[in-house]
Amino acid sequence: MNYIAKTVSIDKEPADCVIVGMFKSGQLSHSAKKLDTLYQGILTRASRRGIIDTGLGQVTTLHDSSRSRHPCIIVAGCGEQDRFTIPSFQRALSAALSEAKKHKVNSVINGLIEMQVNHADMQTRVQASVVISENSLYSYSHTKSKASDGKGSVKKMKFLTRRSAELSKIREGKKFGEAIAGGMKLARDLGNLPGNICTPTYLASQARNLKKAHPKLQVTVLGEAQMRKLGMGALLSVSDGSVQPAKLVSLEYKGGKPGQRPVVLVGKGITFDTGGISLKPGSAMDEMKFDMCGAGSVIGTIKACCMLDIPLNVVGVIACAENMPGGKATRPGDVVSTMSGQTVEILNTDAEGRLVLCDALTYVKKFKPEIVIDIATLTGACVVALGHVPAGLMCNDEPLVNGLLEAGERTGDRAWRLPLWEDYQPQLDSNFADMANIGSRWAGTITAACFLSRFTEKYRWAHLDIAGIAWHSSGKKKGATGRPVPLLTQFLLQQASGTGH
Ligand code: BES
Ligand code: MN
Ligand code: ZN
Repeated sequence: MNYIAKTVSIDKEPADCVIVGMFKSGQLSHSAKKLDTLYQGILTRASRRGIIDTGLGQVTTLHDSSRSRHPCIIVAGCGEQDRFTIPSFQRALSAALSEAKKHKVNSVINGLIEMQVNHADMQTRVQASVVISENSLYSYSHTKSKASDGKGSVKKMKFLTRRSAELSKIREGKKFGEAIAGGMKLARDLGNLPGNICTPTYLASQARNLKKAHPKLQVTVLGEAQMRKLGMGALLSVSDGSVQPAKLVSLEYKGGKPGQRPVVLVGKGITFDTGGISLKPGSAMDEMKFDMCGAGSVIGTIKACCMLDIPLNVVGVIACAENMPGGKATRPGDVVSTMSGQTVEILNTDAEGRLVLCDALTYVKKFKPEIVIDIATLTGACVVALGHVPAGLMCNDEPLVNGLLEAGERTGDRAWRLPLWEDYQPQLDSNFADMANIGSRWAGTITAACFLSRFTEKYRWAHLDIAGIAWHSSGKKKGATGRPVPLLTQFLLQQASGTGH
């Protein structure tokens, strides 16, 4: 989509469709007032007659082709003003955009940015608008014989302001929004590709591809022989049952000062998770092609860093393997030794994410990280606990938690903290190794994080369990979401601008 920022009054600017917001209070925004005056009180009258539904996510269309400049006005309900946050803003805008699509409009004026959003300035509202709009246009076509034509979708979005000082804020918001959306698109494409195409080797080649367009990037790929030399017995045990070799890929983005400690992002890249010998049941197993979405979000976030030229050093590391039940596959009860020297009894080969991550988390010490964040579709239990709304967040550092939670609120790509208390650790006791790779039935998301915590004691670390948010499961919306690219990119932006914690 084309985004245009202008200092012009709405009565002078034509568009096929205007989106204005309205709170329950019925109070009109600046542009809404202008339209109201221009068209004989169209909004105040409709509001008085109770035609406008101001509930959050509701839309009311006032169509009249005799208004040549603004034939279609969509009023997006915004609910209660004091509860209007970025996630609500995004809900209101998506509803309005899908309504606009029905009317086959080419250009829209996004008047919703005039609505006051809690803790979000103009730049943040424009950024959120661009991310939502780009995401609504996404369509997957890589493995279809015909690409969808994108007909009937909105082509142009205008942001209007009275103050020229605000223009630069709008332009910044547009730039950040486009970079985040670009990273999300890449993450979605990688996630949606089937396991027979998106293998560990393919992910490594995609990382190398990024380097072509972005000279600030350095990409290193370790093969199985190199990983064996480093003692990564846990990571390698996962790919033993597969004919696809595992890969450990590092993407070093050097936007900061030389010698500045990097933020390291570690992604789970299981390109297909059958469960291994602890085989998963058949229903919905196809969705386990999405088990590399953590890695996809790391690649997408690095791409966004490159697009924005973020003044920060960032390293992305993706631990890629396929979990299959071949003749050489790991058996339940097998003991492996990790790069850290600790040994693990693998009681369930389906708890493979933590096995690839633990060696990657040891490996990243070599980058002398300021902060390490891992991102993983790690546990079904996280979906049970939090559903499809926030990512699960577990962390050993309070300022880091706050920075991530804030980045989530600002982008609508939220996380929610779960405890990482010592009390859960004994669940991992093993009679035959330093630890087992699974706990009991209870608190599975937390025991998975407890397992990882034994490899992250030397640095500030956060773990994001994205099992519930990385993809939509059914119907027309089935597919990867590109989350948590917005949260991660926003966090890095905060970190770069020094407002990080
Ligand atoms: N990739 C899965 C987690 C998952 C399952 C994500 C369903 C989204 C939807 C992970 O590798 C896994 O299988 N975890 C097991 C852990 C268990 C064996 C301790 C799980 O959640 O069942
Ligand atoms: Mn698994
Ligand atoms: Zn998995």
